[in-house]
Amino acid sequence: MSKTYERFKKAASPVLGLYFGDFPIKAAKGCYLFGEDGKKYLDFSSGIATCSTGHCHPQVIAAAAKQMKKLVHICIGVALYEPYIKLAEEMKTIVPMKDAMSFFCQSGSEAVESALKLAKYASKKPGIIAFQGAFHGRTMGALSATTSKMKYRDGYEPLLPEMYIAPLDLSVVEGLMKTKQIGGVIIEPVLGEGGYVVIKKDFMAGLRKLCDTYGAYLIFDEVQTGFGRTGKWFAADHLGVVPDIMTMAKGIASGFTLGACVGKREVMEKWSPGAHGSTFGGNPVNCAAAIATISVMKKQKLIENSAKLGGYMKKKLEELKNKYSVIKDVRGMGLMIGIDIGDAAVVKKIMDTCLKNGLVLISTGGGGTVLRFVPPLIVKKAEIDKALKIFEKVLCQI
Ligand SMILES: Cc1ncc(COP(=O)(O)O)c(C=O)c1O
Repeated sequence: MSKTYERFKKAASPVLGLYFGDFPIKAAKGCYLFGEDGKKYLDFSSGIATCSTGHCHPQVIAAAAKQMKKLVHICIGVALYEPYIKLAEEMKTIVPMKDAMSFFCQSGSEAVESALKLAKYASKKPGIIAFQGAFHGRTMGALSATTSKMKYRDGYEPLLPEMYIAPLDLSVVEGLMKTKQIGGVIIEPVLGEGGYVVIKKDFMAGLRKLCDTYGAYLIFDEVQTGFGRTGKWFAADHLGVVPDIMTMAKGIASGFTLGACVGKREVMEKWSPGAHGSTFGGNPVNCAAAIATISVMKKQKLIENSAKLGGYMKKKLEELKNKYSVIKDVRGMGLMIGIDIGDAAVVKKIMDTCLKNGLVLISTGGGGTVLRFVPPLIVKKAEIDKALKIFEKVLCQI
């Protein structure tokens, strides 16, 4: 056992679920992690689909460092500052809504809390519909909408009242809308923790129609799918459906802690001043990192890279599926690809053996039965080839 792991076990809460346990690192750069063991690891986890421009991108770090020397914190409630406003303006240009307004917070869960509160507040209806297999976060409201792993909820019930968990079935959704006071419907366009299941276009179009008919707000949780992960700015762009409210976090600031709840102007304008807020939300340093992230994504054409190399990697993984029966399915979009193995113990063995061979892969799916390939969006073809070579070698070994 490494000294670091020993210290972790003595001082940090045991509640944290660790993918690998004893895996201490010293630093990270681009697509690589540098272990305390002196080894270099190819990182196809991106800090759980978060380091969009790669680890410690120089432009993002420089923007954050520059901001740090000017203003670290004041709280937007106390005084207005440039990075918050600039980022909200940038958001308008990349989201699918025509006239969007942003509320910034610090994490995905908090973005989801914000969206749920906004939907309830603006609609004046208490009910929310979420879907089976969804993951929306660990705070109490977000957890109430989360069923990807029932273990997450154990010990915390009762959760939010008036949260209805539906199957992906429009007739069930309509039944709920007819009989309950539904103010919002929250859905991930690709079920992230649910195993990288892509929601069908028809289903989303049907959901949009039902929300319009019954006066509920459609919320896309794009915490994982947003910011180029799926090969477009947002997964919504693949679907041809415009939500009323969106949640974002993860890739938004290349690893700096930021979340966003973005809504159509007519929805946001119903939120009265003071009805929601956050001390640290939209902190100047994190907003500066997000602005730099957007700039790097545009300059380095990372969305195009995600679509192109994601397509390439998916094709190669499908070829491996035809070769190795252990792979049951390959799914996802852009650089968000899930490999369904169907057996958590086998997935763990693959992850551990990949790690020994210098490749970091993590799992997802209800019981951890799916491997996910989510490299930074700056990944190069040569790095994908290297990862696939290690992955195939490990498949042969096990
Ligand atoms: C779709 C989705 N929503 C919300 C969250 C919660 O985000 P956070 O862990 O930043 O609170 C996650 C995290 O994995 C997520 O994938």
